[in-house]
Amino acid sequence: MKLALPRFRVVTLALLLALGLQAHADPLAPTGTWSAYTAGRAATPPMGWSSWNAFGTDIDEHKVLGAAQALVDQGLAAKGYRYINIDDGWWLQRRLSDGTLIIRTERFPSTRQASGTPSFRSFTDRLHAMGLKAGIYTDLGRNSCSQAYSPDDTDLPKGSVLEREVGLYGHTQQDIALYFETWGFDFIKVDGCGLRAFGAEAEKVRSGKYRELKPVLDMDSVARSDIAAVQQQFREIHEALVRSNPDGDFVLSLCVWGAGNVRAWGKDFGNISRTSDDINPTWSRMLTNFDSAAKRAFYAHPGSWNDPDMLFIGKGDFDAQHLTEARSHLSLWAMLNSPLFIGMDMRKAPDALVKLLGNADLIALNQDPAGHQATVAYDSHDVQILVKTLSSGDKAVAVFNRTAAPLDVELQAAHLKLRPDADVELRDLWSGKTQRLRGQLKLKLAAHETLVFKARSGSGSRMLADGLYLSEQPGNVNPAVDGVVNPMPDPTLHRSAKGWQGTRGSGERPIYAGWGGVQADSAPYGEALALKGRRYETGIGALANSRLEVRNAGYRRFTATVGVNDSARDAASTATFAVYGDGKLLATSRPLKWGDSGEPLSADVAGVKLIELVVRASTPDAAALPVTWADAALLAK
Ligand code: GLA
Repeated sequence: MKLALPRFRVVTLALLLALGLQAHADPLAPTGTWSAYTAGRAATPPMGWSSWNAFGTDIDEHKVLGAAQALVDQGLAAKGYRYINIDDGWWLQRRLSDGTLIIRTERFPSTRQASGTPSFRSFTDRLHAMGLKAGIYTDLGRNSCSQAYSPDDTDLPKGSVLEREVGLYGHTQQDIALYFETWGFDFIKVDGCGLRAFGAEAEKVRSGKYRELKPVLDMDSVARSDIAAVQQQFREIHEALVRSNPDGDFVLSLCVWGAGNVRAWGKDFGNISRTSDDINPTWSRMLTNFDSAAKRAFYAHPGSWNDPDMLFIGKGDFDAQHLTEARSHLSLWAMLNSPLFIGMDMRKAPDALVKLLGNADLIALNQDPAGHQATVAYDSHDVQILVKTLSSGDKAVAVFNRTAAPLDVELQAAHLKLRPDADVELRDLWSGKTQRLRGQLKLKLAAHETLVFKARSGSGSRMLADGLYLSEQPGNVNPAVDGVVNPMPDPTLHRSAKGWQGTRGSGERPIYAGWGGVQADSAPYGEALALKGRRYETGIGALANSRLEVRNAGYRRFTATVGVNDSARDAASTATFAVYGDGKLLATSRPLKWGDSGEPLSADVAGVKLIELVVRASTPDAAALPVTWADAALLAK
């Protein structure tokens, strides 16, 4: 017995230590801190112009500075379109003696220097003197997207294999210092083709044109992407940006096109993050890109926005002959808090499109400081109703006709979470006309039309009079852990007849992971919020084993009704709900399982800055265990 005691103590100590370490690594443990990206300068979605949709790699100084001058002259710069971004095509080569990147001086003559080493400094000085910001483009790998996909070599880097390695790979610190410290850029788009297209099997690698770099991003298979490796590179880029920009004046744009489950984690690594492959100027492709962000409202916040790609207004289905479509494109991007990057030759922009892009009411929706991406209040194959809560407490609502035929749509006060007996004034942000909504309103939509209204309602007209539902404030809710263990493609995104590949083969398949992510007013997998047969129109749907961070701006009470959603396929496991305030446990449910009725939870959050909503399951794989924070709200009293 005497001998057993110390031995027991050693074992206990080891056990406690192990438990302690485990607790430290436990992703569901409250942290008391907001973990989405807030570095850089993107409190509202960045706006400006990019060379890519207008010119591809065929760029030069006249085109870029011409766009800048046009934006100033047309008054669009003053309205917020301020970043002038050079996309792919600017580089000549990497100088091997010291690794310095060399610019195509014949295209950018102002970068020529007596020293022989070109510099963009006078170019960025010029943009800054015009009150603008300057953006540059690079790649995570050794080579760029145009090197992977361009049909000819005209605009591609020149020289030996090594000289043509212009991407960040192995040069992150050096290149970021060059871009930001030496050249004075303010924005960087980091593409990922170098990590995707230069595997041993690629024709360009086999022919000896480029060196092999084992792909870690795979567009077709999320399982084959090495997500940790990609994240580590973005972490290093972030650190280099912070080092090179002591004033924090930078924007980091992630461009991995929805691959590698980035729709779930882009928000933690950069200011804007592409949710899909490239847009093109067709209605159909615009729909796909819109869909890739439309149901990801909780994955976007001030400082970390979803990016369904640059605007294609001015070309194809969105040119001056298609103003309805062009207005829809801008309306949807504004509602989603997408970055607004114009992609046409602004020197030749028709007045009608300049006016359209300059719609101050639409811009104000996009730039609203609260930063709540619109959520989907109604969703069918043909029509979507998107609702966005503004910092004033007013709502904006967009009614979107996806089809090529006119449609009658009934807008309900309930879509806006307003009482049916209240008068609501709706101002059409395209026509300027006002009308009244009481209960419901019949609307006529032209083919491809999006009506956008700002809704003003008197006090007491909100369904929740003295607070705000969490699904009305996605900009304050961050799914730090969303419970998705095995990312799967989201089958609900629009796929077009032609896809990116034409009708070759059997067609386009769903490729963007995120299926099962956290949803506003819906359960994951597109199902309804319901607990023991009772439907809830409002709430947050998540999977179990999730942790949501909620910023609290002065509310005093958190309330919700919690339970395992009726759509659960796992009837045996339990889920326990807990509410933390600045890291301390405030309230907890009993273990609940499928078929249990909802349990009310309430917590005093007065003075609490960060609330965390944690659901622990009795099973490690929560894919079959959707859970519901029904009517989750922050209340003033
Ligand atoms: C990728 C990106 C585009 C553009 C091109 C440039 O396709 O997604 O936005 O930057 O590369 O080559």
